[in-house]
Amino acid sequence: MARIAIVTGGTRGIGEAISLTLQEQGFTVAANYGGNIEAAKAFTARTGIPSYRWDVGDHEACIHNCNDIAAELGPIDVVVNNAGITRDGVLHKMSFDDWNEVMRINLGGCFNMAKATFPGMRERGWGRIVNIGSINGQAGQYGQVNYAAAKSGIHGFTKALAQEGAKFGVTVNAIAPGYVDTDMVAAVPAPVLEKIVAKIPVGRLAQANEIARGVTFFTSEDAGFVTGSTMSINGGQHMY
Ligand code: CAA
Repeated sequence: MARIAIVTGGTRGIGEAISLTLQEQGFTVAANYGGNIEAAKAFTARTGIPSYRWDVGDHEACIHNCNDIAAELGPIDVVVNNAGITRDGVLHKMSFDDWNEVMRINLGGCFNMAKATFPGMRERGWGRIVNIGSINGQAGQYGQVNYAAAKSGIHGFTKALAQEGAKFGVTVNAIAPGYVDTDMVAAVPAPVLEKIVAKIPVGRLAQANEIARGVTFFTSEDAGFVTGSTMSINGGQHMY
């Protein structure tokens, strides 16, 4: 029987590519999304992958939606914590709300989804959690104290939970994407983005499916010895 995978933020951008890649690999995929109903409807119509709307920063919503998905599709074996937002701004202009929303959704979402699914994986003796971090969590980024802190937190969260899951067959790994051709990166002011791209040795933005390939590896049956690991996919921009 096909294993069940949930991808948060799974209907657009990197998340969409991950949902499709997992479907190609034979997983039954459920895609979560936060707010863009039109995009989610179009995604589901195009791919046949069901989409479910809830806020991953809301603890109770994660618990009950994951329970509902498990009741509908089967036990959840794979979670890809991809959902994330930016609220960029230099610290002296950043509001507490901009700090808090990014921490709540980007980092809190990983905790909430793990709370909802890790115990079941642990009991069944198999699971794969893949957290999408960022080059900016590894290296920092001007104007992103909130996002860099949340993404850096994801890398720590990954290594800690990996230690808890190891003897139960549950691996926990992270991918640290560089700058990817998505709506999120398109929102960076053009002159700022030009300077960033000029510093990428490969000389271009990543395509979303180049990030999804890393998820394919971490979620595969034969990646059981890989845990607590971070795969950087950044065109050589930061060698960590
Ligand atoms: N290092 C040093 N100084 C910098 C700098 C940098 N990287 N970037 C900007 N500055 C300086 C500018 O030169 C400018 O200095 P002067 O006033 O002396 O000219 C000053 O900071 C203010 O710059 P801005 O005019 O850009 O200031 P702003 O307040 O209008 O905007 C900002 C600030 C919102 C942070 C804007 O610079 C920005 O959007 N930067 C991009 C941040 C970024 O990379 N975000 C990534 C989003 S995608 C993502 O996060 C996905 C992922 O995982 C990779």
